[in-house]
Amino acid sequence: MCGIVGYIGNREASGILLDGLHRLEYRGYDSAGLAVVDGKQIKRVRVQGKVAALASKLKQEPLSGSSGIAHTRWATHGAPSEANAHPHCDDKGRVYVVHNGIVENYAPLKQELQQEGHVFSSETDTEVIAHLISKFLDENTPLELAVKKVLKLIKGTYALLVIAVAEPGKIVAARQSSPLRLGVGQDEFIIASDASAIANYTKQLITLGDGEVAVITRAGYTISELHGEVDLDKDIEEIDWNLDEAGKGDFPHYMLKEIFEQPEAIKNSLRGRLLVEDGQAVLGGLRQVEDRLRKIKRLHLIACGTAYHAALVGEYMLEEYANVPTEVCVASEFRYRKAILDPETEAVLVISQSGETADTLAAVKEAKEKGLLTLGIVNVVGSSIAQATEAGIYNHVGPEIGVASTKAFTSQLTVLALLTLFLGRQRNMSLVIGKRIAEELKALPLKIEKILAGSQLISQLAKKYVRVNNFYYVGRKYNYPIALEGALKLKEISYIHAEGAPAGELKHGPLAMIDSNFPALFIIPQDSVYEKNVSNLEEVRTRGAKLLAIATAGDNRLAGLADEVLYIPKTLEMLTPILSVVPLQLLAYQLAISLDRDVDKPRNLAKSVTVE
Ligand code: AGP
Repeated sequence: MCGIVGYIGNREASGILLDGLHRLEYRGYDSAGLAVVDGKQIKRVRVQGKVAALASKLKQEPLSGSSGIAHTRWATHGAPSEANAHPHCDDKGRVYVVHNGIVENYAPLKQELQQEGHVFSSETDTEVIAHLISKFLDENTPLELAVKKVLKLIKGTYALLVIAVAEPGKIVAARQSSPLRLGVGQDEFIIASDASAIANYTKQLITLGDGEVAVITRAGYTISELHGEVDLDKDIEEIDWNLDEAGKGDFPHYMLKEIFEQPEAIKNSLRGRLLVEDGQAVLGGLRQVEDRLRKIKRLHLIACGTAYHAALVGEYMLEEYANVPTEVCVASEFRYRKAILDPETEAVLVISQSGETADTLAAVKEAKEKGLLTLGIVNVVGSSIAQATEAGIYNHVGPEIGVASTKAFTSQLTVLALLTLFLGRQRNMSLVIGKRIAEELKALPLKIEKILAGSQLISQLAKKYVRVNNFYYVGRKYNYPIALEGALKLKEISYIHAEGAPAGELKHGPLAMIDSNFPALFIIPQDSVYEKNVSNLEEVRTRGAKLLAIATAGDNRLAGLADEVLYIPKTLEMLTPILSVVPLQLLAYQLAISLDRDVDKPRNLAKSVTVE
């Protein structure tokens, strides 16, 4: 979490840094700050709160200078406050640091420094880095060497930018497990946690790798390894999306924009990958491992949060249609389980929108350690997980900024369906079934457009239910994970308590909670478990609960059973989650708006979870 950005060039730095922080704010937003090199001094402004508060403070206390560093924070060590906001500096004001990550051994290092007389002014782990660099920096030790010395002492994760009074024309940057990208412009450089803070100024990007250190001056940059001295020759990539895609356009929130982008996003995920007549999926990212995949007897799907819910749907798809035994595990548990894995016949597939989620990345490392083939479904091109996995499939849905994942989720489901087709056709799936899946996949964008066209109805519904404090979301088979996802969406942006449950489990406990103030929302398309679901719905109805249902268009029976029914177009059972989740995203959004919540930046959360 946390967003960092640095600038060095010939323009005023503070405006560019502030613009970068605005674009990175989805990564953390409890405090913000920047430090600018002004001649021979470094000046700093920090606030508790959002980047807008920093912008107002900068109007009162403008900073002038053409290089600097900035940070927007998601607190780990030390509560959100001005004193804990970055940039941090040592007690002599010589070195300023912004950091994304965690210094795990900061406590003993801090204790040692305090014994030597260093005085700390924050509760953060980051401050030790500034003190240590200042301690090592002298006439014979340039900033980059002092930084390298410190990085060899600290344990943990970091994306780090450092400036020093003694070397005003230089930014030193380093990365270990937290993303950092260098934008190479015309006589100027911008270095940031992600490309959205850079794309306004240059499309030329270098992704720093783990254990790499960059030294950036107005004249150019060098990149070397932490333990080496030789300069690396890194490739420059071109950003293939424009900033409009990362802006809100005419929408009041990123989340709403991203919900409405889903038809286009799914088209992009499918583009060039479907051979409808052959009932085949073409997945270029898996070509190099195609033969190994033929031999796979078990697949482990690993992810966190919303991506984990996608994995749960994937399990149903892969087992039912591709005949591949599949297991799903939350990434934070996988690394601590003693999973029984066979490197000859099993593979790990991780799913991550950001490609930076610490637990998911750790699971990839663990699986590689065990000798397993590692695959990824990732949205952010060039992200840590994309680089760490041996092969994979990109979502290609453009930047997802809203903390609540929406278009990435439906794309993950789409890609899992493509993978099912791909693996299924390698195995027993017939041409007829393959064609059917391919045809239905192709038809999805139009069907989602139909659901979105009815969004007005959902906003009226939200007004009716806005005073409700608890919801059950209930589903079965393919739509059980959608019950979990619908409940997660509601919780994270509206702060209304919601639980997802498998329909068959209600009578094993949850039913005790049901009364007229505790509504249940059934996801109940006309599929192979429809009748069972209707019986469960009846059980809840008998106990006096208000009932909402997501049903297949034309299902008049449900109109007589539930208080409210939202309809989705008919599709193949395995693809119903891609449709049924859309009204749930809209419902969560509308309820959150009615409660005046900050939907794009819900409290206590951040978009990219780069800590364990
Ligand atoms: C989704 O709405 C969440 N905010 C969160 O659960 C997210 O899906 C999870 O943190 C995983 O992120 P990733 O896909 O970037 O790995």
